[in-house]
Amino acid sequence: MAFFTHQICRSLSSSAVRNVAIKHVTIIGSGQMGAGIAQVAASTGHSVTLVDTNDDVLKKAIKGIEGNLKRVVKKKFSDKPEAGEEFIQKALQNVSTSTDAASVVQGSDLVVEAIVENMKIKQDLFGGLDKLAPAHTIFASNTSSLSITDIASSTNRLDRFAGLHFFNPVPVMKLVEVIGTSATSQETLDSLLNFSKILGKTPVSCKDTPGFIVNRLLLPYLIEAVRMYERGHGSKEDIDIAMKLGCGYPMGPLELSDYVGLDTMKFIMDHWSAANPEDPSFAQSELLNKLVAEGKLGKKTGEGFYKYK
Ligand code: CAA
Repeated sequence: MAFFTHQICRSLSSSAVRNVAIKHVTIIGSGQMGAGIAQVAASTGHSVTLVDTNDDVLKKAIKGIEGNLKRVVKKKFSDKPEAGEEFIQKALQNVSTSTDAASVVQGSDLVVEAIVENMKIKQDLFGGLDKLAPAHTIFASNTSSLSITDIASSTNRLDRFAGLHFFNPVPVMKLVEVIGTSATSQETLDSLLNFSKILGKTPVSCKDTPGFIVNRLLLPYLIEAVRMYERGHGSKEDIDIAMKLGCGYPMGPLELSDYVGLDTMKFIMDHWSAANPEDPSFAQSELLNKLVAEGKLGKKTGEGFYKYK
């Protein structure tokens, strides 16, 4: 995955830099998460550049953002259609796209990465951008399972590197996890906590531990529901109804697994189980492995535990 077409080397001071307000945000990766982050940042007045490897995926992402902005407007501006249209146009004007991260990063206060969950690809991306971005620019990863410390190790801005973990669907879910490593400066954390609040989110501070807060609790729950279904302890429908009505969750665990993506779930579980082979809460599920091998990855492929139109 080449996000650069050229490299400009520049020497950077590695000393702590005082943070300025985050105005321009570069978001790398225009999938569901990247596009969602772009939508929320643009809607709250930030200038956003969304970066991906080709124009077709970027066009699709902008179309998705427009569709989701209409959903927001339907709710917030139901009695003011003109104000709603203005909100959409303003937000869309705030987003530009690029296939060349190298050429846009120089004007960025914050770079948020939301690309494939692959350590080497993330390290290569940030390692390259580190030579190009201004000294004050904060780098953040939206990874849901990889170590922020390990990703940051490819750069010389350890004090300006953190995790910024959003939840799907980004325009709806109110939480952002702000993850600091032992080297992240307090200024960087304060900037990201403040930025999250300006986005209309509620941030929580997390340590750089596997799964941070939410996924460390959510994934063992989801995988246990899969194992429960595998053992025949309940139908998938009953397991989902039970957790929705018994606990007031908006989605049951198998429905939510399809929504998160079974490949994403498997990736996280495999990673944790390799690091903790003795821990039964990370044990493999044959059914999950089978569905992923068959390409039934959940909602995004039209089938997972359930079928989608
Ligand atoms: N953009 C803007 N608005 C959206 C939206 C989007 N992408 N998706 C949904 N909405 C809005 C809808 O317009 C709707 O608004 P109104 O209530 O005003 O009509 C509202 O959200 C509810 O949506 P729907 O009516 O379409 O459907 P729903 O009531 O079934 O809710 C849901 C859908 C919000 C996804 C809800 O089911 C839910 O909260 N599910 C749980 C999601 C969850 O747990 N996410 C976290 C996953 S874990 C993760 O992301 C971390 C990781 O690293 C793996």
